[in-house]
Amino acid sequence: MNRDRSSEVLIRHLLRPQWPFVLMAMTALVFAATPLMYAQSANPLEGDARAIRGGAGLFRAQCATCHGADAKGISSIDAPDLTQIWSQRSLSAAAVFEIIRHGIPGSIMPPHSLTDTENWMLVAYLQSVAEAGVIGLPPGDLAAGRRAFIENCSSCHRAHGVGEGLGPNLSAMTSQRSLESLVASVRDPDALVGRGFKLVRLRASEDEEITGLIKSEDAFSMQLQDDKGRLRSVNKSELQMVERLSGSLMPEFARSQLSDQRLFDIFNFLQNGAQS
Ligand code: HEC
Ligand code: HEC
Repeated sequence: MNRDRSSEVLIRHLLRPQWPFVLMAMTALVFAATPLMYAQSANPLEGDARAIRGGAGLFRAQCATCHGADAKGISSIDAPDLTQIWSQRSLSAAAVFEIIRHGIPGSIMPPHSLTDTENWMLVAYLQSVAEAGVIGLPPGDLAAGRRAFIENCSSCHRAHGVGEGLGPNLSAMTSQRSLESLVASVRDPDALVGRGFKLVRLRASEDEEITGLIKSEDAFSMQLQDDKGRLRSVNKSELQMVERLSGSLMPEFARSQLSDQRLFDIFNFLQNGAQS
């Protein structure tokens, strides 16, 4: 593991038991704030071949410069992989429609004034390039996987009624992500830290230093969850120091610590554990 001491301390802070409640409260807030004004929630053009071709053309013209010609994202400008938004991010068609229309304030993702039809065509195109989940998991031992999950992962993750903590629920992970990206999440978690889990340390005043996770951010302010689990908003202009920590809270599991076979056992538990 290549983590420095300060982030170890932070992790211990963040793992304190009030976290599940904070996360629950936040989830409730997010749901309450979801706008209910979508014209419709399903994409009327989903699966329509002509709409998908039209959407692909719009995508090349308006989106590819940032998200890449294959919609796989461009990491140097932080433009996300759009083939993963359905599975990994569980976005709905309506939510994607709204994001395209309004953009994401505080980021370079711009609003677009397209007609509803054009907008749904883009959504249909993005649905057509959705990355499928794990195709053919290597065989594994369900019972051993369950034990290994409890031992290594359950302090931060929940799956099939086991475990707790501040990491994402992994129950449906194997149907949402490719095997390759799942393995990468475990072997090299620092490479891609999920949005909402980026770490920061900052000084808000002479005698107050805050460490926490950046939940959202714009040019003027930052919303974060501090190490006591509280949600805070800070004005950037008032900050005396900001240090962005690059790592993930998720520790790295080397092969010497967790063999490939044991990892496949865990994935097997994630995939089939509902029956165990
Ligand atoms: C100028 C660059 C730029 C252009 C052009 C652009 N995007 Fe984005 N887009 C971004 C960035 C950067 C983000 C991530 C913003 C954030 O969350 O901080 C983003 C986020 C998104 C998201 C949300 C992804 C998620 O995981 O939440 C969707 C969906 C999206 N873009 C679709 C599109 C589509 C469709 C187009 C074309 C109509 C487009 N974008 C054009 C830069 C761009
Ligand atoms: C100390 C806490 C901790 C432990 C232990 C831990 N994780 Fe994580 N994990 C996290 C956090 C926090 C995230 C989200 C941040 C990120 O994306 O890096 C995460 C992300 C992930 C993701 C990506 C999820 C997504 O939505 O993209 C996978 C897959 C994952 N962990 C699997 C595992 C497995 C398998 C184990 C056990 C072998 C494990 N984790 C152990 C904290 C932990």
